[in-house]
Amino acid sequence: MRRSPGIVLAAGALAWFAAAGHAGQHAGGEELRPAAAFAEIGDEAERSRALFTEAGKVMLHPRCVNCHPAGDSPLQGEDFRPHEPPVRRGLGGTGVVGMRCRACHMRDNFDPGRVPGAHQWVLAPRRMAWEGFTLGQLCEQVKDPERNGGRTLEEIVEHMSEDDLVGWGWLPGAGRSPAPGSQQTFGELIAAWVESGAACPE
Ligand code: HEC
Ligand code: HEC
Repeated sequence: MRRSPGIVLAAGALAWFAAAGHAGQHAGGEELRPAAAFAEIGDEAERSRALFTEAGKVMLHPRCVNCHPAGDSPLQGEDFRPHEPPVRRGLGGTGVVGMRCRACHMRDNFDPGRVPGAHQWVLAPRRMAWEGFTLGQLCEQVKDPERNGGRTLEEIVEHMSEDDLVGWGWLPGAGRSPAPGSQQTFGELIAAWVESGAACPE
């Protein structure tokens, strides 16, 4: 069979993307196992806990925790250091007068400058703080309608799978490691966790 130059080119581009993706995952430091990898665990509660533990690699990654801090200021970098310049959460997490998040954070990542961006870049509310959480504490928070924005478990699956601030975790711009795996793999882990009874690890 003769191959058209287009196919050869496309194959070349794919190989390049695959290599780039691989490098990206290394920068993230971790891979994410798909939900199917847990199917062999017969005990449902045990499987559920294992699924949440795997998904926790994403939720406790700096890309998420930096914007879900315990205090009044965002964190940054791979080492959860305080945001520079110092900014405060202000009303609704949008910053205080003169230091609004949107003054610097645009609708997209902006490089050079390494300023991350998204449709609406605001700090997660205090009741949604994940900084310093164990997997068990994280799990209880995510399930608790008093603290998760009044969401049902189905709505949690939807948020994790489709929200654009969550999605930013895999497209974080220059100089930042992406969250492990992909948003799709992550969303499927959360869905499988809910289907298996949403059990929490210790
Ligand atoms: C730029 C800041 C920002 C980033 C980055 C971010 N979030 Fe959030 N997150 C928010 C805000 C703001 C809310 C509240 C939105 C709402 O309730 O409608 C929120 C709410 C949530 C909620 C629902 C409430 C809860 O705590 O259970 C989940 C789940 C969540 N985020 C997951 C993630 C994950 C996973 C990541 C990383 C892949 C992430 N977020 C990254 C700002 C952020
Ligand atoms: C004066 C400009 C400015 C303002 C105002 C500002 N930021 Fe930032 N922010 C930046 C820059 C620049 C970076 C990237 C720093 C770097 O990575 O070198 C950043 C990084 C971040 C990060 C880190 C992302 C990561 O995972 O490393 C978060 C989270 C963040 N900002 C949230 C906020 C929030 C929420 C507000 C409003 C309350 C805000 N910022 C206000 C300039 C600003």
